[in-house]
Amino acid sequence: MFKTNLLRQVTRAAIRQTPAFTATARQPAAVRAFTNSALLREKKDDDLDHTRHDELTTTGPPGASEHEGKFSRTDETIQVEYNENEEPASRPVQGRGGFHFKRTLASFSLEGRVGVVTGGARGLGLVMSQALVVSGADVAIVDLNKEEAAKQAQELMNHFRQENPGAENVPKVTAHYADVADPASVQAALDEILAAHGKIDNLVTSAGFTENFSAIDYPYDRIKKLWGVNVDGTYLFATGVARHLMERNAPGSIVMIGSMSGAIVNVPQPQAPYNAAKAAVRHLASSLAVEWAHAGVRVNCISPGYMLTALTKKILDDKPELAAKWTSLIPQGKMGRPEDLMGAVTFLCSDASAYVTGADLRVDGGYTVT
Ligand SMILES: NC(=O)c1ccc[n+]([C@@H]2O[C@H](COP(=O)([O-])OP(=O)(O)OC[C@H]3O[C@@H](n4cnc5c(N)ncnc54)[C@H](O)[C@@H]3O)[C@@H](O)[C@H]2O)c1
Repeated sequence: MFKTNLLRQVTRAAIRQTPAFTATARQPAAVRAFTNSALLREKKDDDLDHTRHDELTTTGPPGASEHEGKFSRTDETIQVEYNENEEPASRPVQGRGGFHFKRTLASFSLEGRVGVVTGGARGLGLVMSQALVVSGADVAIVDLNKEEAAKQAQELMNHFRQENPGAENVPKVTAHYADVADPASVQAALDEILAAHGKIDNLVTSAGFTENFSAIDYPYDRIKKLWGVNVDGTYLFATGVARHLMERNAPGSIVMIGSMSGAIVNVPQPQAPYNAAKAAVRHLASSLAVEWAHAGVRVNCISPGYMLTALTKKILDDKPELAAKWTSLIPQGKMGRPEDLMGAVTFLCSDASAYVTGADLRVDGGYTVT
């Protein structure tokens, strides 16, 4: 139903020729609303001399016409602040796991493996947790929101039972609290996971968030928080799991969730610190892949494009024109579904990718190749 609405809204917005956007400053997520500032900016040419016109529209160097470069600019008036306490819950994917009667390569199976997914209580992390469970792995979901993680852990086991009637071995899914940006909290979670599962073979680092402020206005404490969760959190969990694998003398696979924002600059929403954080995650994966290759520990990155999660749905419900802008830049002409990551994460965690390390797998509908 959302997709139908979205399509209708996208078409309407495209016909209207996508205006620029702005949002009221520092509102909580629940009341986030983009407001259209295009009217404030659009003054008729004949009201203005050329110098003033260029200054107001910020469309380019003096003499440039109004549309030049317009669709490849960030808009500093867009502000979206992330608030982890007010974001919506998501649900496991229904009916798409599929019964295990279609043949595929045995090397894709994760049976006997234990996977850890940070940020697994919701959104992309939850769907990737489900991919590991469907592929036979036991999973430890780690999140700030332990209550939601515990609820979803139960749901994932229930779904597995429904989709595999008569299955003798139902994967064990557990929930654990951690603030991934806090070293002591990460170590406590790893200890708890090892006590519950005995070992860890795979790690998927999905805990992360984005928000929008122009670089000049970005509150410094929020930049530190954003880098702490997206970069430090990835580093701390990866090193913790690699240390465990090396002590066990066991091979393993780590998948870091970056973003296409680590390779391109999104428009129109300004988000320089997030883009830099995701570039760091991507290169961290390459660097650790080289450093740990001798130990059989593979490290890869998945860089998703715009995915339709509960989070993006809420933003787009408020401002559907943003979807028109985004999709107009995606060769496949649509945003991704969280399920589109299920195959990618299973591939990279499994032996099917045994000779793949240090790679960045973009799941972005072609966004970054144009
Ligand atoms: N949704 C997209 O379009 C998109 C695109 C590219 C990349 N990504 C990346 O994918 C990852 C997941 O995004 P999502 O859309 O599923 O987000 P989401 O907000 O739906 O889920 C993120 C989860 O991480 C948890 N989390 C946040 N801070 C944490 C912390 N300090 N410690 C532990 N857990 C924490 C949250 O509680 C939440 O459950 C992020 O790293 C994001 O940057 C998302």
